Amino acid sequence: MRVTDGETMDIVEMVLVGKVNKEIVGLINHCGGKAVGLSGRDGDLVCAEKLKMSKAVAENAPPELIDLGRVGRVTRVNPSVLRGLEQEEFIPVIAPVGVGEDGQAYNINADLVAGAIAGCLRAEKLILLTDVEGVADDQGNLLRSISQKDLEGYIQKGSIQGDVYSGRNRDGNTMKNESEIQKISDQVFLHTYNRYPVTIIEGKGCKLLDEGGREYIDFLSGIAVCSLGHCHEAVTEAICRQASRLVHVSNLYYTRPQVELARLLVEHSFAEKIFFCNSGAEANEAAIKLARKHSQPGRYEILSLVSSFHGRTLATLAATGQPKFHAGFEPLPEGFRHLPFADTAALKGAISEKTCAVLLEPIQGESGVRPLPEEYLRAVRQICDENGLLLIFDEIQTGMGRTGTLFAYEQYGVEPDIMTLAKALGNGLPIGALATKEDIGRAFSPGAHATTFGGNPVAASAGVAVMETLLAPGFLPEVRRKAKYLQENLNALSQKHRALTSGVRGLGLLQGLILTEEGCSLGGKIVTAMLEKGFLINFAGDSALRFAPPLVVTEQEIADMVAVLDAVLRSFTRP
Ligand SMILES: Cc1ncc(COP(=O)(O)O)c(C=O)c1O
Repeated sequence: MRVTDGETMDIVEMVLVGKVNKEIVGLINHCGGKAVGLSGRDGDLVCAEKLKMSKAVAENAPPELIDLGRVGRVTRVNPSVLRGLEQEEFIPVIAPVGVGEDGQAYNINADLVAGAIAGCLRAEKLILLTDVEGVADDQGNLLRSISQKDLEGYIQKGSIQGDVYSGRNRDGNTMKNESEIQKISDQVFLHTYNRYPVTIIEGKGCKLLDEGGREYIDFLSGIAVCSLGHCHEAVTEAICRQASRLVHVSNLYYTRPQVELARLLVEHSFAEKIFFCNSGAEANEAAIKLARKHSQPGRYEILSLVSSFHGRTLATLAATGQPKFHAGFEPLPEGFRHLPFADTAALKGAISEKTCAVLLEPIQGESGVRPLPEEYLRAVRQICDENGLLLIFDEIQTGMGRTGTLFAYEQYGVEPDIMTLAKALGNGLPIGALATKEDIGRAFSPGAHATTFGGNPVAASAGVAVMETLLAPGFLPEVRRKAKYLQENLNALSQKHRALTSGVRGLGLLQGLILTEEGCSLGGKIVTAMLEKGFLINFAGDSALRFAPPLVVTEQEIADMVAVLDAVLRSFTRP
């Protein structure tokens, strides 16, 4: 590494960007290629920070810091500029200059920039032409090829000589650590999840970073959880502030954050009373208990829908209308019936003297993003009123701005009697809520229902920051604008790939690209191909690709995801 002071940096930029880059571009174009010259500063392509180096001076003395001036290291690659050029089949020629957060230029070794860009683009191959002779073994012999495994051995023995691109990640760990984590995970956990071979270490906004230094754009938000994006500043600040003050105290005492959050929920919804818990299943469990307790003795039955999803505790599992989740857990608690999707006559026919409530998701998320028609929801409200039944909306996935309004029910003009929330309420901290009217809530008296952690001050502080952000002027209109953009783009994709897709359904930033039978047989593979290209989506309910990006997603990120999905769908289309 050569020290680069400010004046030298100006010269480096002039030579690299103004001269060498232009010469290379000229040569490629002269030979019939379509090259475009770029500096790593263009479009924030290569983000950088000052490289910190130190050297050991004496055995017990602290290492001495070496100031390399404007020599930098790559912190992030922003591939959108390259994706645009790639679509037009241009060859980008990039001068290895990075841009710091302060807008300053940094001089970075070209091989490091090339490695970072190749990694970010998931390049299958990186060909490096260099005048450095190469890597030698301990006898000084030039190594013509090295596998990742051998490389690790050489590094561990300390026998490798010369300069080497070691595949080390940002934290100085090697790739091997990543697979080790995955191996240990398989040893120590019950096998309740089929995980992708990716270990995520960091997130910011819509971006996630794995241990191997690869970047991903998150179009799932931890399944509609991190709706404000990862590590949202206001949420992180609220969590840290509260965690340094008070983490927990029993619900036998008052705490300020949970009161603030409950008040915000009451002020901005139909509800007058709130109960806090820790997850979606717990919120629905509370709703089921409240509905039963509120009803006359003997009225305990809850009607829900086929293909619904309400949670994994025994009662919420019983409410869930998907037999595949029931298998092996029988006998399930009694008092649940599953009715056909959006069938008013079936609902009317199912009501008996035992029925106490109807439980619905306005949009069934888990079974493939299936919105219930507005007329059906209105009819259900009327049927519930006529029969003295409670209407419970499970807004665990659709609530907290996901559909473009604070709660989905607002868009249908149908108010429930009880609403359940979780997921995005804490933007990643575990918190769930039941919201209801005062007269219904009265059925719970002290001791009737409780939970140790419910409304925990740290989780509730995160919830307050979430609510304040969602309620800021312009936030939700912007979500609706971007949702329209996503929907239009997905519709265009669907028109283009008719063999694999048959339409788009959803509301706001919860959208599903419906797959045809052929598409469904490839659903898992499409998701994996997207992951390999750096985008997180999922295949929901064996019927649709689900998109639930953070609400702060940009149009550019949507356009990038759609372009990559277009290419992936094309690659799966039979000629
Ligand atoms: C609509 C709905 N209800 C309930 C749940 C269960 O929530 P949790 O996993 O937090 O228990 C989920 C989770 O996916 C959901 O989407």
